[in-house]
Amino acid sequence: MANVILVGAQWGDEGKGKIIDVLTEKSEIVVRTQGGNNAGHTVYLGKDKYVLHLIPSGILRKDKVCVIANGVVLDPVGLVKELDGLSALGVSVTPSNLQISETAHVVFPWHRELDGAREVKKGNDRIGTTKRGIGPTYGDKAARVGFRMIDLIHRERFPVKLRERLIENNEVIESLGGTPLNYETVLAEYTIAADRLRPFVTNTVVYLYEATRRGANILFEGAQGTFLDLDHGTYPYVTSSNTTSGGACTGSGVPPNRMDRVMGVLKAYTTRVGEGPLPSENSEISDMLHGMGREFGATTGRARRCGWFDAVATRHATMVNGIDELAITNVDGLDTLKTLRVCVAYKVDGRVLRHMPNDCEVLARCEPIWEVFPGWETPTDQITSWGDLPVNCRHYLLSISQMTGARLTITSVGPAREQTMFL
Ligand code: IMP
Repeated sequence: MANVILVGAQWGDEGKGKIIDVLTEKSEIVVRTQGGNNAGHTVYLGKDKYVLHLIPSGILRKDKVCVIANGVVLDPVGLVKELDGLSALGVSVTPSNLQISETAHVVFPWHRELDGAREVKKGNDRIGTTKRGIGPTYGDKAARVGFRMIDLIHRERFPVKLRERLIENNEVIESLGGTPLNYETVLAEYTIAADRLRPFVTNTVVYLYEATRRGANILFEGAQGTFLDLDHGTYPYVTSSNTTSGGACTGSGVPPNRMDRVMGVLKAYTTRVGEGPLPSENSEISDMLHGMGREFGATTGRARRCGWFDAVATRHATMVNGIDELAITNVDGLDTLKTLRVCVAYKVDGRVLRHMPNDCEVLARCEPIWEVFPGWETPTDQITSWGDLPVNCRHYLLSISQMTGARLTITSVGPAREQTMFL
């Protein structure tokens, strides 16, 4: 299947985990290239439900190698918990099926404290972060004061560097009215985690270079979505990494000319968690989906904000990611509707916009221009072939992929592997 970059083409939670799981069958290596444990992929092992935050879900399949690459920010204590959770389910994770980059940056408790304190300070202007310390960790990376995995597993360097950074960060925590962190406690906790993770830490750039030279199929799995991208998203209501396809190259050290295809994953409607503009947001569809028990976050449990499909946004996603193919998920969520709406353009200040404005304040004032589609009012969750989908459903899916500007190749009507159709 060649080297494929998979990205979320909306605001995250597009159902990437399920599509990654399906595509993993054809790949040898699965690489996570950005973000941290702010992401959550729900996976099912028989009747057991498990939420993975850092480890690619490829770990659940035999003979696949998972890589946590350099662009990820890694909470080592959280990762050890994830390893223990997998081991309790009988999943064996060893250095032969999990590799962690030496240069991935490490999340510390002060990053989480600062994430939370900054959100409180912002009041109504808060971003609605997951409070996992993601922004402050990437901030330290950019300011060149971060810790990398190579520092964490270095027995002599780690305690010295930790003391230095803790003193400096405690001053900031105290200035924000928080409780300073205890050096011995953090040292003990992180030393235990470092000892567990040391065997997995390696030079993943060299490993991936050699894998591409021998022609291995590699899947680069994106976390979050296009509009949470630090450069291309609805700034400042974004996460702190590059969630778009370019991030897969910088986040892994695999160059652009080794990538073959970009797949964009979309929901058949729109959702967003946290604050920030969402032009097609709609209480009718939100209430309906929440009433069905759908659209609650895998990491924080927060109810997601929901809206109609926004084709202006997904067209933009195709542009910045270079999406070749689309996977549309959660189609079954719309099964009961009589009619559906799609946002085809925005209206603001007497003008019609066909592209997303970069100014978030302008985007927040945009009103959708709708196109209405007839619903199919038929359950689709048991359908296993494209030709058996109701004609209105196929019409809707082909229309939204055409508006998005890429070829529809996968349709998903439920969380199970069997609820997937290939075109
Ligand atoms: P942070 O990544 O925790 O800093 O949060 C920044 C923004 O990204 C917030 O609006 C979060 O709700 C959102 N976000 C972060 N991770 C995810 C995700 O995996 N899915 C959806 N939204 C996310």
